[in-house]
Amino acid sequence: MTAHIKDFIEQEFYHFHSHPELSYQEFETTKRLKEDLEKNGIKILPLDLKTGVVAEIGQGDTTVAIRSDIDALPVQENTDLPYKSTVPGVMHACGHDSHAATILGAALLLKEHEAELKGKVRVIFQPAEEAPGGAGTVIKAGGLKGVKAIFGIHSSSLFDVGTLGISAGPNHAAVEKFKIVFTGKGTHAAQPQQGNDAIIIGTNFVNAAQSIVSRNIDASHAVVVSITHFEAGTTWNVIPETVLLEGTIRTYTKEDRQIAKSRLEEIAKGIATTFNAKLDFEWLVELPATINDGPLSDFAKEVALKEGFKVEPNPKSLGGEDFSLYQEVIPGSFIMIGTGASYPNHNPNFKVDPKAIYPATQYVAKLATAYLEKN
Ligand code: NI
Repeated sequence: MTAHIKDFIEQEFYHFHSHPELSYQEFETTKRLKEDLEKNGIKILPLDLKTGVVAEIGQGDTTVAIRSDIDALPVQENTDLPYKSTVPGVMHACGHDSHAATILGAALLLKEHEAELKGKVRVIFQPAEEAPGGAGTVIKAGGLKGVKAIFGIHSSSLFDVGTLGISAGPNHAAVEKFKIVFTGKGTHAAQPQQGNDAIIIGTNFVNAAQSIVSRNIDASHAVVVSITHFEAGTTWNVIPETVLLEGTIRTYTKEDRQIAKSRLEEIAKGIATTFNAKLDFEWLVELPATINDGPLSDFAKEVALKEGFKVEPNPKSLGGEDFSLYQEVIPGSFIMIGTGASYPNHNPNFKVDPKAIYPATQYVAKLATAYLEKN
């Protein structure tokens, strides 16, 4: 049976990889996961989710959750894999296909040993991690109800197959996405005094915003303020009326997050006042930092070493991960699974070594089982 599970989830991984779906559009992936779970007699919880699925195995008072995300990215795949994406412009370029296969395999292994489980395992296949924020949809639907702790996994090209990255504390950064529009007054390029130049307003804002990291944040802390989109004007002889700016802030601590956000708003308001412009300011994404629980991460490490994995500290990333939303509710640990050297995540050449999947499955099943034995 165990060999059967290994082959089965590898096939499912190839299938998920060749049929990627974008955030909140994971309809076929969800359907297939539900079929796989039901075929094996695993109970699906009746949560109100359009995509994604939550199942449960075992019985008893304590419940521990294991979580996978399932969505792909708007990237045109550039690999030569026999199971490469069949969907133009969409690719599993972050390994969420391997997470789904791994957690599915863990569910099947746990189901085989259901009678011996000392509690319940909640199995979460979450939609829209890349949106980001699909974790919030699962929480709102009641996916964490009664759950005491949660483990999440992510593929990592930084580690070889057989190595796990586990660290307590901050792991992924808080992510803010902002959108700003300054409105001045359009005019002829030769008569700037008749208008209010949106490009001058926008560039002053860009320059001032860079003082947040250099002058408001403790220099020993990791913080990023990036303005990544600047749009104004249509031609050479017209001074534009509006400028659109978008960008992101990345922080690890609540305090830095607060400072950076309020300074950005103050600077935008100040620039609008200085240049007598109208300001529209919106926060489009506000996601907390992923902070791994200490005891839970130590426990994950202990189980990994016992199971013969090599464990490395996980390098901090200023990338985001909506696993943080679960961690706001219950203790959680986010574990990186070595999936072999590759191009970086989100690159069109990104690859997961399929050999990493089954050992990760065994590990996650063991981790959940051991957690229930201990708690
Ligand atoms: Ni990812």
